[in-house]
Amino acid sequence: EMSPIDKAKFVAAKQATEYVTSGMKVGLGTGSTAAWLVQCLGEMVREEGLRIKGVPTSTRTAKLAREVGIEVITLDEAKWLDLTIDGTDEYDANLQLIKGGGGAHLQEKVVATASDRMIVIADASKKVETLGAFPLPVEVIPFGMQTTKALIEETLAGMDVLGQEVTQRQAGDDPFVTDEGNFILDLHLKRIGAPQTLSLALNQIPGVVENGLFLDICDTVIVGHGDGRVTVRD
Ligand code: A5P
Repeated sequence: EMSPIDKAKFVAAKQATEYVTSGMKVGLGTGSTAAWLVQCLGEMVREEGLRIKGVPTSTRTAKLAREVGIEVITLDEAKWLDLTIDGTDEYDANLQLIKGGGGAHLQEKVVATASDRMIVIADASKKVETLGAFPLPVEVIPFGMQTTKALIEETLAGMDVLGQEVTQRQAGDDPFVTDEGNFILDLHLKRIGAPQTLSLALNQIPGVVENGLFLDICDTVIVGHGDGRVTVRD
């Protein structure tokens, strides 16, 4: 028996498969909701003859996609994608997102940006009035990380945000390391008043690779509910 939250993620993922047809090149997101999608697509490949090529956004998703029978190619082999389907950590009424809770937002953003369409699948708990309650992940290179952190803190001082604490993401006793070999700084901002300004300012800092704000990238959010209903917003 599925918990309401798993049910919500599953029905959103299931609904998203309706947008996938044979011949498509599809970006495959990362996280527990995206994992449901990969499972569903795998089943369609194995049992319904669906023919797709998948571009995974993490080593985790690549492994799962292969396990369930989806043909995996690189983004450079695909060049351009018909569709990317991914989870999110937050979405607002304008379909702006915070992603990267799983530490994969760099590849996720590259893949989503190379797609004709991005569909996000989420349970209703991910909906926010204003972005920022979820700590904003920023991928930084290990070289000079403390200097980059200090520059980020300096940048935040001039921004329309409520909190300014910056912490380095850990994996147990060690720093969390991304698929690209970088570190993640989590920005505890509570409320982001001007996401566009913040995103540009952060990406301007030399040691920053990419932040988790997905602005004007997502086209559709499919929201799953614990009772099995789905609502589509685009
Ligand atoms: C991964 O880096 C994130 O962007 C995920 O998409 C996000 O954390 C959603 O994960 P869940 O579906 O597990 O909530």
